Order: sequence, then structure tokens, then C-alpha cells
Amino acid sequence: MTVGRFRIRSRLGSGGMGEVYLAEDTSLKRSVALKRMAPRLRNDERYRHRFIKEAERASSLNDHRIAGIYDVLEVRDETFLVMEYVEGVTLRQRLKEPFGWKEFLPVAIECAEALVTAHEKSIIHRDIKPENIMLTGKGGIKILDFGVARRLPTHRQITANAPTESGSTDTGSLSGTLAYMAPEVLVEKESDERADLFSVGVVFYETLAGRHPFLAGSVIATTDRILNSPAEPLRHIKPELPVALEQMISRLLAKDPADRYPHAAELAADLHALERGDVPKRRCCWLSPSPPSGSISRDGWRREPHRRKSTWRSYPSRRWPGMQTARRFQADWRRRSRPG
Ligand SMILES: Nc1ncnc2c1ncn2[C@@H]1O[C@H](COP(=O)(O)OP(=O)(O)OP(=O)(O)O)[C@@H](O)[C@H]1O
Ligand SMILES: [Mg+2]
Repeated sequence: MTVGRFRIRSRLGSGGMGEVYLAEDTSLKRSVALKRMAPRLRNDERYRHRFIKEAERASSLNDHRIAGIYDVLEVRDETFLVMEYVEGVTLRQRLKEPFGWKEFLPVAIECAEALVTAHEKSIIHRDIKPENIMLTGKGGIKILDFGVARRLPTHRQITANAPTESGSTDTGSLSGTLAYMAPEVLVEKESDERADLFSVGVVFYETLAGRHPFLAGSVIATTDRILNSPAEPLRHIKPELPVALEQMISRLLAKDPADRYPHAAELAADLHALERGDVPKRRCCWLSPSPPSGSISRDGWRREPHRRKSTWRSYPSRRWPGMQTARRFQADWRRRSRPG
């Protein structure tokens, strides 16, 4: 079968938006992945229009960690997304075994850096999950569907529970996607790039723990846990993890976006520091500064009230971000208190 200049070779899989095929671009002589939009989506004119606009924008992303979007085709009332074909396995397929943390770090760094590139262009994924992350070998990854992921269906769509082409139901595919959505997305509040940081936090947790932090028996129960329950501390499940890594992931999983990393770049920096071994194994509060609710100090760095004392004592001087301010303050105080 051919679609425009693409010859379909085999079926790669299917998801909430439709089916994906491996195809050959007969003019450029290269393999591509063709995503055929499910009828219920392509028949929705507003959705289709927005999808095409977003695909155009996402096609401007040029990063080796993000699968490229080449084109959107409209052929015989069908809509196809033409994407870079990625060889490898999805993180979901690899997750039969949890990762050790040293194997995890390069993958996590690649994910964080892919987010940095996309967020710099104000492109948010909105559906980061293990099915959308391909492992290409030697710690390399490619994130699929960047910028064209489906939004959370409306309440009406969930309750309608309409069967899809693949025989699954909206609720079925929804529960897979819902489980990675940030609380603010679930309650349909305004969300930004920090929603992707929450989703990546869920993926990181699952990758290390071998189980999802919030998944429960039903859509409602999972939603309730994402909104209201903290994840079990990762080191309860894997005591060998560095404290710092556990803290990074729990910061990603903060319910309030203001308590998460403000940008993926800070996450990437912290992961790099951990990989270089620049991070003390048993200390808290070394993480990059964030503007958290209610605890921001005059120099702009985070103070965790319950840990303020130990923070002062345990920061190694060259790494503690407030040290220079403290030294300046101390010198000034000494100068002023000198007699005469
Ligand atoms: N560009 C690609 N290259 C190689 N394989 C792909 C590509 N895109 C998708 N696939 C394969 O097809 C499967 C289905 O992808 P699809 O995006 O339709 O589903 P999903 O990611 O499970 O759900 P969603 O619709 O929410 O993204 C993926 O899990 C992957 O195995
Ligand atoms: Mg996908």
C-alpha cells in the first residue's frame, strides 16, 4: 500500500492517536514512521487544525534526542504524520527490568537535555511516558511525538468511553497517559513546561524503582494518588540510590509546579553534577535554586526551614550557593564591629 510518495512496509504499533507504520519515502529513499490519525480525531475539525499547526511548529525542532517531524500529509480524507523512523526499543519494552542508577544517569541526562532544547522553543511535550522514549543504544535516546501529543480528553470524552479503532477504549488508553500527567494538567489548570518535568519525574521513578509511583487500579484512583499522595521514597525501594538522586526525583514529583525545578536546564545540571561525582552522597539541599513558594530568601536561594541548621553546617563551602553571600555578610559585620 502507498500513501502519497510513501510505501508502507509494516505496522510498528498503535496508541491513543492512531496507528504507526514503517514506510519508505520513495523519493528520498529513506525509512520513515507514518502515524495515521484515528478517525475520531481526524473527524474533529478543530483538533485536526490544531494538530497540523503544532506539527508544523514541532518540525522546527532539531535535536538528536528528539525524533524529527518531517511532514503532515492529508491524503484521501486521512491525516498522516511523517516522522523520523527510530530504531531501538521503547523504554516501556526495556522496563521489564529496573535500571541500576549508573545505567540510568546517561538516559536521564539525555531526556533532560531534550526537554531543554524543546522548552527553549516553547514546545511542550505533554505526554512524556515510557512509550514515547526510544532507547537507541549506548545510553542514547529519542523522544517521540514531541509537540504533537494528544491533550487530556475532556470530561465528556472520558465518560463517553468510545471504542477506538484498535479495539481499546478511550479510558483504557487514557489511563496509560493519565498516569504520567502532572496534577495541574489533570485538574485542567494552566500548565507550562514544568508539567513535562513532572512526567519525566514519574518516568525516572519508574525506571529506577521498577514500578510506577502512583498507578492504582482505576483512572479515578490513579488521578487521586497523583493529586494527593506523595510517592513512596525511592530509597525505601532502592536503598543504594544516592540521596541526591532521590531528592531530584522527589522535586520533579512535587504536586505544586512552584516546588519543581523551574526549568529542565537545572535538572540537567544536577544530573551532570551527580554523574561527575560532584555531589556529596549524604547531604540535603544542594540542589539548584528554585523559586519555591514561601521560602525564598533575599539572595534568591531556597531555604528549607526544617533543615536550615544542617544546611549551614553540611554544605561544602565551594558548592553551597549561599556561601559567597554569607562570607560577604560576615566580612561586613566584622568590619563594622571592629573597635574604633
Ligand atoms: N518514530 C517512530 N519510530 C519507530 N517506532 C515508532 C515511532 N513512533 C512510534 N513508534 C512505535 O509505535 C508505537 C505506537 O506509537 P504511538 O505514538 O502511536 O503510541 P503511544 O506512544 O503508545 O501513545 P500516544 O498516542 O499517546 O503517543 C510506539 O510504542 C513505538 O513502538
Ligand atoms: Mg507515541
